[in-house]
Amino acid sequence: KVLILDFGSQYTQLIARRVRELNIYSEIHPFNKIPTNIDAYKAVILSGSPNSVRGEDALHPDLSEIRGKKPMLAVCYGAQYLAHFSGGEVAPSNTREYGRANLSFIKNDEPFFATLSEGSQVWMSHSDTIKSLPTNGVLLASTNDVKNAAYKIEGESTYAIQFHPEVYHSTDGKQLLENFLVKIADLKQDWTPDSFVEETVAAIKEKVGNDKVVLGLSGGVDSTVAAVLLNKAIGENLYCIFVNNGLLRKDEFSSVLKQYEGMGLNVKGVDASERFLEALKGLEDPELKRKAIGNSFIEVFDDEAHKLTDVKWLAQGTIYPDVIESVSATGGPSATIKSHHNVGGLPDFMKLKIVEPLRAIFKDEVRRVGATLGIDPELLGRHPFPGPGLGIRILGDITAEKVQMLQEVDAIFINGLKEWGLYDKVWQAGAMLLPVNSVGVMGDERTYEKCVALRAVESTDGMTADWVNLPYEFLQKTSNDIINKVKGVNRVVYDISSKPPATIEWE
Ligand code: XMP
Repeated sequence: KVLILDFGSQYTQLIARRVRELNIYSEIHPFNKIPTNIDAYKAVILSGSPNSVRGEDALHPDLSEIRGKKPMLAVCYGAQYLAHFSGGEVAPSNTREYGRANLSFIKNDEPFFATLSEGSQVWMSHSDTIKSLPTNGVLLASTNDVKNAAYKIEGESTYAIQFHPEVYHSTDGKQLLENFLVKIADLKQDWTPDSFVEETVAAIKEKVGNDKVVLGLSGGVDSTVAAVLLNKAIGENLYCIFVNNGLLRKDEFSSVLKQYEGMGLNVKGVDASERFLEALKGLEDPELKRKAIGNSFIEVFDDEAHKLTDVKWLAQGTIYPDVIESVSATGGPSATIKSHHNVGGLPDFMKLKIVEPLRAIFKDEVRRVGATLGIDPELLGRHPFPGPGLGIRILGDITAEKVQMLQEVDAIFINGLKEWGLYDKVWQAGAMLLPVNSVGVMGDERTYEKCVALRAVESTDGMTADWVNLPYEFLQKTSNDIINKVKGVNRVVYDISSKPPATIEWE
């Protein structure tokens, strides 16, 4: 496997994903927490960083067990770090070194540059530049503006590049990573969804043995794939609980439950709608609503889990981005915008051991593993849906009547996206019921009814997002359908805000 040392670059996760796309397993660790079992890693990649090697906040990794001992690729900050502290020179750059550039010189008898040719486009993003190479440095590539764009250290398997091979705009970036990992570090490309399933099933069997495991299904991709993996490993000893919080999409509880049963999962559907509605009564503040929903879920889940005897483990669908320890250049904690994801959500009196079969993989990998496991592609391609569900899409207080109204609106919107072939072009979509009444006119009568906002965004991880340019004809038809079919709604608007400064959900 490959060790990626993170210096806080926004692209670190991309490096890991590119490496994995080459069917080689990689892990990200903070630059100052190098794993003690370093022998387990056959190659090391140093990431970029927002910091400067010349500043007081330069980040210093301890490379004593790595440099010269195993193949190492230093990207951007990494390349500058090696230069600056090993006999070279790094200085602020005079020319603009952001964005597109082309390699004007390549030392192409190097295996590192095999199959690349001059002119290859690379992506730069740095404000310091390497003025002179470190001791024993050999120049490997240049662009017109950046002479020292790539170098190696004579006598070591150490390579350094100023540009970012992990980003899509570096056209041959993936080839370069492959050259380094396969030709230089001699890694095998055998990490595939199939091998992941095989290894994970064996690991679960080993870890859990004949114990019973309980898992909460949400209808989403992660918990479903986790359940199918566990089911493959331990069969009937896996007990799944699927809670209806009354805030799911229209007919979702019954249809997803059926689907789960069809997949051979040992699942119990628990309709707790009333209990959630009761807990939400009169609450208007988004964070209080989230808390009420989170707490009710814990109570319901706990009640159900206690009905099972001898359960030793709790399985969760945690995925790799939730696990990676982040490197913060500024140090301080970031402000809580929303208390997402109900992290750490279970009461410790349950005292269950945790099993998380997806903790090593990214979302797109979860989908590929799901496909290998034969899970319905429609389920795997589902848009993300927040845990508190429609509870945070009904602005202000929640009533059964509002839930039903929004379920109808949402169903028209989502089914329309599917019918028009737009669903898969959108990362997430939904409707918000606004706490606003406005005047309308229907059949010569005055109406004074609710307004709904439709939202459809493109994104890769939900951290940033932009609204989708849906065809006017689609919006026109959808708006018409909603106003004609859903009683109580007389106005539809489309949300054209990006994140930031807005967020995806309205609450
Ligand atoms: P925002 O609204 O913060 O949403 O831009 C980003 C992503 O997170 C989802 N989201 C939540 N998911 N519990 C969840 O499990 C929550 O409380 C929650 N709030 C937002 C949102 O749907 C989007 O995908």
